[in-house]
Amino acid sequence: MNRKFYFYTVLSLILLIASACQNSTNQTNQTNVNSNQTTTASNEIPNRKWWKEAVVYQIYPRSFKDSNGDGIGDLKGITSKLDYIKSLGIDVVWLNPIFSSPNDDMGYDVSDYQNIMKEFGTMEDFDEMLKGFHDRKIKVVLDLVANHSSDEHKWFQEAKKSRDNPYRDYYHWWNEEDGTPPKRVSFFDPKGEGWKYSPETKSYYLHYFSQKQPDLNWENPKVRQEIYSAMKFWFDKGVDGFRMDVIHFISKDKPFKEIPAEFKDDYGKFYGSGPKRHEYVQEMYREVLSKYDVMTLGEAGATQEDAHNYVDEDRHELNMIYHYEGVSLGYLPNSKKIIDPKGWKLTDFKDIYTRWDKNFAEKGWNTVYLANHDQPRMVTRWGNDATEFRELSSKMLSTFLLTQRATPYYFQGDELAMSNIKFDKIEDYRDIESINWYKQIKSEGGDLKQFMESQKIAARDNSRTPIQWDETENGGFTTGSPWLKVNPNYKTVNAAAQEKDENSPLNYFRKLTELRKKELTLVYGKYTLVDKDNENVYAYTRELNGKKLLVLLNFKATESTVNAGVDLSKAKVLLGNYKDFSTDGKLKPYQAVILELSN
Ligand code: NOJ
Repeated sequence: MNRKFYFYTVLSLILLIASACQNSTNQTNQTNVNSNQTTTASNEIPNRKWWKEAVVYQIYPRSFKDSNGDGIGDLKGITSKLDYIKSLGIDVVWLNPIFSSPNDDMGYDVSDYQNIMKEFGTMEDFDEMLKGFHDRKIKVVLDLVANHSSDEHKWFQEAKKSRDNPYRDYYHWWNEEDGTPPKRVSFFDPKGEGWKYSPETKSYYLHYFSQKQPDLNWENPKVRQEIYSAMKFWFDKGVDGFRMDVIHFISKDKPFKEIPAEFKDDYGKFYGSGPKRHEYVQEMYREVLSKYDVMTLGEAGATQEDAHNYVDEDRHELNMIYHYEGVSLGYLPNSKKIIDPKGWKLTDFKDIYTRWDKNFAEKGWNTVYLANHDQPRMVTRWGNDATEFRELSSKMLSTFLLTQRATPYYFQGDELAMSNIKFDKIEDYRDIESINWYKQIKSEGGDLKQFMESQKIAARDNSRTPIQWDETENGGFTTGSPWLKVNPNYKTVNAAAQEKDENSPLNYFRKLTELRKKELTLVYGKYTLVDKDNENVYAYTRELNGKKLLVLLNFKATESTVNAGVDLSKAKVLLGNYKDFSTDGKLKPYQAVILELSN
């Protein structure tokens, strides 16, 4: 009896000591991850991850900085700007596609998954750039375009030669003798047709995007292994993650029947509901992702439920996805980004971001963005690019992005409040989307004037114009002739000028990243919408471990009033885009302020 008692006492003691050691290790680890974060008791936050706390800065290499005067941005150009990028206070850089490509869709048509696009430089340039980022403690995420390849990829060149070619099953085919293939719509085809006839083998191949972007056949295990080995190649080089292009499209509805009526107006939704999409992503996780400490972001215009499935930790798929619901607001439904003449309502905007926050409140993790290479400039689309409001409204939008419970994805040049170029002529556009939509509307006898006006707001080339570094020719982007025109406002809107101005959008963005880094409440704190029905002001609180912040954003060019439901005179201003703040709830045009409320 005594011996038994003695045995259990010793065992309990051992267990107690082991558990104390374990606790202290957890705490040490967490403190180490963010030793500069002092404002919130960091050890009380469960499930912390570096990619949740990161601010991601998106670089479109073609337009970032040209180092050799060919008019196209390149990797050496990025390397020459590493200190600038570091100075922004961001943690992760996502580079749009840099693999070999004939650039039918600016790199989203890959002809070799393990090589660098020749316009962008060499593998040595890549290694140098990666080291430069890592030396500065910035992680690098690449773009993986795995739903389709280029038609110039060796696999497709082989596949189209004969029906019994070993690469034939790398793509989706429909034989001529089986009749006309069931209708599939292509996003970038001049006629909108998703099947392209290939005379060599008297058959059609599937392309959801351009004719030069044939869809890969993920049903073929060899294709999946090819993609996995390309991923491992980059991870073994030290790359820190992937953004995965239209990852929700990879599973196809074989054997290609007619599309059910409910999806007829929304092909994207149908393409994104393939039966094996989650199975494939889970396999990718098992075979590749689980072996590395990397971050993954899926582009997946999915429903909230499906988005949740992609990022639910227990399902072992991806870390984050991004959806299109927010950025689609204000376009006519199922149109070629035709602007809705009724405009958009702030209450709808708030509703979308609030619903998406709720979707991940308990599990998974959210993302937030207002612009990227597929969207126009955020200040033109969501703020106001008139001279007197451009900087103010851009700062207000940056405040929104950096105070949501989500990883912010921030597009290059938005820190300078760059605005849309608004081309008048179709000849100025370089983007296949604008060019082929124009052709399609023209051949259908549609309203080209309406389309061209909408493109001034919505076209992707608006955000792809080169970065405006200084007031020298072409904004200092290139000494040659730029591949896409530089916005003529570069004389006044440029990085060099903003470096010298303490109140510039650039310096405001730096203050925002610094605040988010110090204040974990902005990352993990509970989000609550305030003054829900206010059509002018977006207000919300963020709460964590007894600390409460209030964010007020006036989305209008006029003075607006918010009913914050608290005594604002007791609040402390942490950051704002005006020098002063009125405690009676009146906000100046595009005013943004982050407040700390007292308990
Ligand atoms: C989504 C990408 O973001 C876009 O730029 C591209 O055109 C399509 N996928 C096709 O790859």
